[in-house]
Amino acid sequence: MKTFYVLNGPNLNRLGKREPDIYGNETLENVEQRISQLASENEATVIFRQSNHEGDLIDWIHEAEHASGIILNPGAFTHYSYAIRDAIASVPVSVVEVHISNVHKREPFRHTSVISPVTTGQIVGFGLKGYELALQSFL
Ligand code: DQA
Repeated sequence: MKTFYVLNGPNLNRLGKREPDIYGNETLENVEQRISQLASENEATVIFRQSNHEGDLIDWIHEAEHASGIILNPGAFTHYSYAIRDAIASVPVSVVEVHISNVHKREPFRHTSVISPVTTGQIVGFGLKGYELALQSFL
């Protein structure tokens, strides 16, 4: 059975409460339910985690080195974490980067992703549906 990691970075535990005009009203638990359902319909499993700490995300990327894929929304770490970029580069597994909002329409500091050069692809601006699109791309 294929195993996929879905990793979410800082402040994404606040989905549903956080800036709903940008991130919508749904919670991360809603995303987890939908993504787990999609995985089980396709004989796959997902390991779903969130942390506000950079080191946790790095440890989980290392842990996922034998997984079938990683779906990663690093939150604001996207824009400056060379440590997360190096963690991705250190594992052989494919990583799809997800952003709920269209970062390119927002503040200039969000236009840069330091992790994109080491990811397989990026899904941006499709709201929480982006996580499902990422899983579908793996399936
Ligand atoms: C985000 C975009 C980032 O710029 C922001 O810091 C986030 C969420 C997104 O999913 O749209 O925390 O990654």
